Amino acid sequence: MLSRHDFGKKFKWGVTISAFQNEGAANRDGKSTSIWDTFTEKGLNVKNNDIPGETSAFYDKYEDDIQKTAFLGFKQFRFSIAWTRVIPDGIGTVNPKGIEFYNKVIDKCIENNLEPWITIYHWDLPQILEDKGGWTNRDILDWFGNLVHVCVQYFGDRVKHWIVMNEPMSFTGLGYFWGYHAPGRRGMNTFLRAAHHVTLCMALGGRIIRQMQPNSKIGVALSCSYVKPSNHFFFNKGAARRVEGLLNRFFLEPLLGMGYPTKLLPGLGLIKKHFEAGDEQRLAFDFDFIGLQYYFRVVARFSLFPPLLFAREVPPAQRKSELNEMGLDVYTGGMYKLLKFYSSYPQINSIIITESGVCYTDFLRGKKVHDASRRRYHQKMLKQVKKARKEGVPVDGYFVWTLVDNFEWVEGYSPRFGLIYNDFKNQRRVIKSSGHWFRKFLKGDERDS
Ligand code: FCB
Repeated sequence: MLSRHDFGKKFKWGVTISAFQNEGAANRDGKSTSIWDTFTEKGLNVKNNDIPGETSAFYDKYEDDIQKTAFLGFKQFRFSIAWTRVIPDGIGTVNPKGIEFYNKVIDKCIENNLEPWITIYHWDLPQILEDKGGWTNRDILDWFGNLVHVCVQYFGDRVKHWIVMNEPMSFTGLGYFWGYHAPGRRGMNTFLRAAHHVTLCMALGGRIIRQMQPNSKIGVALSCSYVKPSNHFFFNKGAARRVEGLLNRFFLEPLLGMGYPTKLLPGLGLIKKHFEAGDEQRLAFDFDFIGLQYYFRVVARFSLFPPLLFAREVPPAQRKSELNEMGLDVYTGGMYKLLKFYSSYPQINSIIITESGVCYTDFLRGKKVHDASRRRYHQKMLKQVKKARKEGVPVDGYFVWTLVDNFEWVEGYSPRFGLIYNDFKNQRRVIKSSGHWFRKFLKGDERDS
């Protein structure tokens, strides 16, 4: 049986969206170009050559989307700030129109009894800063620090929950090592340099917010995967441990004051090359909560490439797993294991699932979208969360990715993750059956086995 009462009164129930994926209006009201605007221009680098265009038009439809969030029964609304909207030159001058937009979003949340949770950085770096080296330029500590400062200064009177950054491993790994994501750069050195600056910036952001607003709750949102070796041969087990170290521990442990896990990943010890005196201490910050985001399981095996890691994923399509629309292995059982793993760190005393969701093919039939598999997915995930909570894991919230179908980075428009269907031709929204299920569940009158 599953009931919202199992999770206690203080449990946070929210939805998450992000600026680049939802807002549209990429050139309006003084906004400058982000690396994602550049990377997806003319559909280059994107599946089916999809062009973001208006994405899901949150810039114009924010009132409607926020009202719908409240209608579904959620109490938390997590959104990100487009750096290019609030500080178009990346460094200094604040754009009043950008501030005005987020003020309206925050006020609308409050009017609808939704707590606004701000993600300060969700991957859309100003292109003008990337032209100066982006995350590989150490000056980003100043640029990012200024962004944090501006956000707290303008929004901190009403916003008390901050997520300094979203999924550092995804945007540095895909954007600065593999080159699949913006800004499309490659190489181990580029990755390590960017990664080190990103970690420093997370801790720095935390310190700035705490100093400006001592009573707020500050966190980061980290991606993680449940990792399994392809079989029991010891070199494959070792490969799985390294992949796990990279995906789940690399950004977490320095924040917790443990340094990078270079014993486990000796190759990544090269990151020390980018250290300046005092960095060891600068990497740590006692966050109020850690955001956990788990989308897929990884099965790893030994491989000579990439060097330093000596491990590779066995492609999901080659295994007998349940795959989502993006071909990812959706293994809900991993949620419990990851919650246990996070709670094994004594420094972590609150975990929030800051994103959880799945993409399946949806069909609009008449005025309805019947997405039973998405509903079942969330139910299964919530059962894992409930089980972990029962065992004392301090998991305090569940945020659905996402509210409305939007633009899924290089996957374009085909993967739909929303509780609300979006007809991209006319931006018409239709609440899916999974959304209706959440509404009943959150009202407290739905029990499901
Ligand atoms: C996460 C990202 C989010 C979205 C979901 C599907 O990794 O944080 O923006 O793309 O995946």
